[in-house]
Amino acid sequence: MQNEHLVHIDLGQRAYDILVAPDAIDRLGEKLKEMFPSARFGIITDTNVEKEQLPRLKRTLDEAGLEYAITAVPAGESSKSIDMLNRVVEDMLAARLERNDIIIAFGGGVVGDLAGFAASIIRRGMEFVQVPTSLLAQVDSSVGGKTGINSPHGKNLIGAFHQPKFVAADLTALTTLNERQFRAGYAEMAKYGLIDDAEFFFWLEENYREIFEGGPARAKAIAHACRAKARFVTEDEKELGARALLNLGHTFGHALEAATGYSDRLLHGEGVSIGMVLAHKFSAKLGIAPGQDATRVQNHLEAAGLPTNISQIPGDRPSVEELMQHIAQDKKVSRGALTFILTKGIGTAFIEKNVDANEVFAFLKEQEN
Ligand SMILES: NC(=O)c1ccc[n+]([C@@H]2O[C@H](COP(=O)([O-])OP(=O)(O)OC[C@H]3O[C@@H](n4cnc5c(N)ncnc54)[C@H](O)[C@@H]3O)[C@@H](O)[C@H]2O)c1
Ligand SMILES: [Zn+2]
Repeated sequence: MQNEHLVHIDLGQRAYDILVAPDAIDRLGEKLKEMFPSARFGIITDTNVEKEQLPRLKRTLDEAGLEYAITAVPAGESSKSIDMLNRVVEDMLAARLERNDIIIAFGGGVVGDLAGFAASIIRRGMEFVQVPTSLLAQVDSSVGGKTGINSPHGKNLIGAFHQPKFVAADLTALTTLNERQFRAGYAEMAKYGLIDDAEFFFWLEENYREIFEGGPARAKAIAHACRAKARFVTEDEKELGARALLNLGHTFGHALEAATGYSDRLLHGEGVSIGMVLAHKFSAKLGIAPGQDATRVQNHLEAAGLPTNISQIPGDRPSVEELMQHIAQDKKVSRGALTFILTKGIGTAFIEKNVDANEVFAFLKEQEN
């Protein structure tokens, strides 16, 4: 089928499939019954997804005669907290889920990260499946097994690597996602082209309208993105090397998110959009990448409705000094030298472990003009 793709993540004993399809949720009851014949299920979701999409999930589980408990956390990044982790763990235990039962992470990246981490610790580890309902979760966070929550010391500092047993990326779920969130997910999708797949980036330039409108290009792009992520994950499951390329645009992006308090002023994908443009411009300034590539990247992300420079963030502009502090605190710092994902041009990103903080500072100062 034109709109259906199956992507296999080849991780040996931890291998799993991702189904991308318009009715992936509606088929889940039968699929789960077949995969886990005697299991009960614990659904972890958030309040928005509960309202918009949970009835579909309940219907398919009911039709398959499966038993389940449900817990819904407040929507938003603040649910990736130790308090909310405690709540969902206790809810799952109160529902008498046993070690062989299955957690279902039903929502965007927040729910996926929280529920996946909960699954990794309940009864010393339960299996889970991901049912990502945001574009960002479908193309990025649901694939690869990174799970976790935030600490006052920073984002994603408490967590575990825990791979799901199955991922069901349902295209119909995206119809209730708002446009701004969809665009933010699109930034992560474009990232795969910019890292090492120029052809994909050029294809996106031609097809992004159809992706936004929901034609067959959308399913194709999501599956392509999952395959791209799968490649990095299978090569380097625990991010000791090449998986770090997935952080393209993220050092600048995280600093901007931190400086805006992880608020509605700047979604993660929006920070990544600005960050990827900055990474290309910075590489151009260092004489590594052609300046026209930075312009091309900026033009495309702008056409897709994403912010591409710091001045587009509503509210007070974060100071360069403050951004530098966040950059230095970012986890990609080792012994004083800054690690950045730089690029030689579209589709040729690389890891540079020796970036001089003064150069970054000077570059960000220039961006103020
Ligand atoms: N584990 C990883 O590898 C990884 C990778 C990238 C990002 N992340 C994490 O993912 C999180 C961001 O994910 P996100 O952008 O999906 O955020 P999110 O989970 O907060 O979802 C965004 C918003 O969309 C709503 N929503 C989701 N699906 C919906 C639907 N179908 N209909 C209506 N509303 C819907 C949510 O309730 C929320 O308000 C961050 O915490 C980030 O750290 C993790
Ligand atoms: Zn990201």
